[in-house]
Amino acid sequence: MRVVASSALPIDLVAQVQAALPGTRVEVPASGHVGFDGVNLTDADALVSLLLDRIDEALLERAPNLRVVANCAVGLDNIDLGAATAAGIAVCNTPDVLTEATAELAFALMLAAARRVGEGERLVRAGAWTGWALDQLLGVGLTGKTLGIVGFGRIGQAMARRATSFGMRVVHADTRDDGAAAGQRGSRDGTAQRVTVDELFALADVVSLHCPLTPSTAGLVDARRLARMKPTGILVNTSRGGCVDEAALAEALRAGRLFAAGLDVYAAEPAIHPGLLASERVVLAPHIGSATTETRTQMAQLCADAVIAVLSGQRPTNLVNDVVIR
Ligand code: GLV
Repeated sequence: MRVVASSALPIDLVAQVQAALPGTRVEVPASGHVGFDGVNLTDADALVSLLLDRIDEALLERAPNLRVVANCAVGLDNIDLGAATAAGIAVCNTPDVLTEATAELAFALMLAAARRVGEGERLVRAGAWTGWALDQLLGVGLTGKTLGIVGFGRIGQAMARRATSFGMRVVHADTRDDGAAAGQRGSRDGTAQRVTVDELFALADVVSLHCPLTPSTAGLVDARRLARMKPTGILVNTSRGGCVDEAALAEALRAGRLFAAGLDVYAAEPAIHPGLLASERVVLAPHIGSATTETRTQMAQLCADAVIAVLSGQRPTNLVNDVVIR
């Protein structure tokens, strides 16, 4: 059997797979991300991929023996799940272990955007700070304000817990059943009130995105929804850049129709919309939501576990598609 990883990993995949499945060839790049382009996948039984790798029909055709793709991410928008399922290939992701880390980063971005931390740091580093001033870098307070969470799954709920302890009120919306949510409107999950997506944009002082990128969430934050937000409003995105119309966001910020944004993800990474780069009010992080040593190690471990399980004929824990494991 043969296992191919597209990137170096913070665990010893070779040792683990060979201990469980002696004789298996395991290829892991010595450092960084190499991808699958130009790699002969004809006899690959398992792939360990990153969100940078497009696992589409064309790649699957190059890997006729493939049994499992372990994606070292919770998001699956880099994978054509339909094509993998049709080919009988198990797809696994890495949920749970990155929940708290990602919520921590979303919370950090919310605080940094509200209190203009990036602007302050740039001022100091530029040697342009001339001393304390009563009206310097006035931000937006968060205590008593409303956090609107789009996508109330594991990470959205972890964000809500943090916000509640900061004295914020939490509302949330589910992107999967908006419009059909009437029966549930105003219902409560714990301390958070459920509203529609449009209601959330009008109600919230901070909107934080925690939904996957799907055809129905692509461009979810568009000019119309941004226009519903308060001019003191803040947008936080740690989900996927494609959920936001970046040109519309840049324009809302430029026109002063939105106070700030905290972004970790972008539509065409690593490119960043010039209007966002130009805005002092955007805190820009380089897609590091799950980037703690503990979390990235656990994510890689889940991928190793998934590969070993499937190649041993067992059902992996984080299987996301409906395939028969043989
Ligand atoms: C990161 O963006 C992930 O999906 O895990």
